[in-house]
Amino acid sequence: MDVALTTPANPIVAVAARGARRYATLSAAPIAGSLGAEITGIDLSQPLTDAQVADIRAAAVEHLVIFFRDQSLPLDRQEALTRGLGGFGDTPFVEQLDGHAGVVRVVKEAEETGISNFGGGWHTDWSFQAAPPSFTLLYAVDVPPYGGDTLWANGHLAYETLSPGLRCTLDGLRTVHSARRSYAPGSHLDRTADRRTMRIHASDEAYAEQEHPLVVTHPESGRKALYLNPTYTIRFAGWTPEESKPLLDFLAAHATQPAFTCRFRWTANTLAIWDNRATQHNALNDYDGWRREAYRTTVVGTAPRP
Ligand code: SIN
Repeated sequence: MDVALTTPANPIVAVAARGARRYATLSAAPIAGSLGAEITGIDLSQPLTDAQVADIRAAAVEHLVIFFRDQSLPLDRQEALTRGLGGFGDTPFVEQLDGHAGVVRVVKEAEETGISNFGGGWHTDWSFQAAPPSFTLLYAVDVPPYGGDTLWANGHLAYETLSPGLRCTLDGLRTVHSARRSYAPGSHLDRTADRRTMRIHASDEAYAEQEHPLVVTHPESGRKALYLNPTYTIRFAGWTPEESKPLLDFLAAHATQPAFTCRFRWTANTLAIWDNRATQHNALNDYDGWRREAYRTTVVGTAPRP
């Protein structure tokens, strides 16, 4: 008897095999079928050559998120790498480290229970900006004994696995992005401000709206990607929120289906670098009672183009 293996919840997706890859100055080994690779052969505590930075960039564009375990990464080295990858992006709404513009301490203390975490929920960093960051760097210094993993989803696969008919319909659409759900006065982050260590500056500026193409072409790889996320994408341009919701919900679920994701188990002293132009990510909030701390910088990007 034939058994139906394909259901809406369990589609058959053809994800091409990925192999370990040697770049001139480092090596990358995939951690999942769709995206993500662990990098070896490089010491980030030392000043990096142009060739090493170029390889880091190439690996991040190819694998979409890369991980460097067991690295000693003083803040000035993370800042230097951020500059080497293109320079700091603009960091709104979140307090930055004194004397270190552009560096955010992402922390949830053991006592901060029953509240949302920074970076929880699927999103693409600062997609409400006119030129959202190209890359984000996150260096974990303290991690819980379990939980606190981060998930990433591959936006290229999200686009490429849609039917030709739907791709054709989506190609011309534009979306509206806004920070209001996260950073407007009265948002969850704002209402729980007195219970968290991270200082979030909720502001009416979060109501600003920014249009982007729904389907973008990656400026470095030339590959198309679905560019939307359920945190900041609030509707299609020219559509009402009610008209937009069913298609946005379908695309958000399609884009983050398990087969298109990787899940990373952090260890202390690991740096992750991800490419925001073709990914979403989601920091899991399943470690109440434990501490998690990381240092985050973003690299300036360009306006997404169709
Ligand atoms: C973020 O979304 O920038 C933070 C991700 C994480 O803490 O894993």
